[in-house]
Amino acid sequence: MAEKTYICRADEIQVGMPFIAKVRSLSIGVFRIGDSFHALLNVCPHRGAPLCEGPQCGTTAPVELPEFIYHRENEIVRCAWHGWEFDIKSGAALVNPSVRARTFPVTVEGEGIYVTA
Ligand code: FES
Repeated sequence: MAEKTYICRADEIQVGMPFIAKVRSLSIGVFRIGDSFHALLNVCPHRGAPLCEGPQCGTTAPVELPEFIYHRENEIVRCAWHGWEFDIKSGAALVNPSVRARTFPVTVEGEGIYVTA
């Protein structure tokens, strides 16, 4: 049964520097995107890499023209092993949204960040 667990103070999580916590037997990374917080299991669904240790970044937009448009800054985590990109909010892989990193609800209470896992 899922339990709400205190992770850290909100000001301990900066954009680009997720807080990785142990919750029971799970390693979970909590990311900041602007003023919102999102939690992902620190396991890549591809081959099991520590997903949350990859860079928090944006990605290139799909475009028709021969140009690169970088967008979604800080909304994506890129797995360090093979470069798969995941939407931090939904856990969906950008190349195939049916592949998902596990997500967990995050709540902010006062200065505290809590994850339900
Ligand atoms: S283990 Fe993450 S992309 Fe391969």
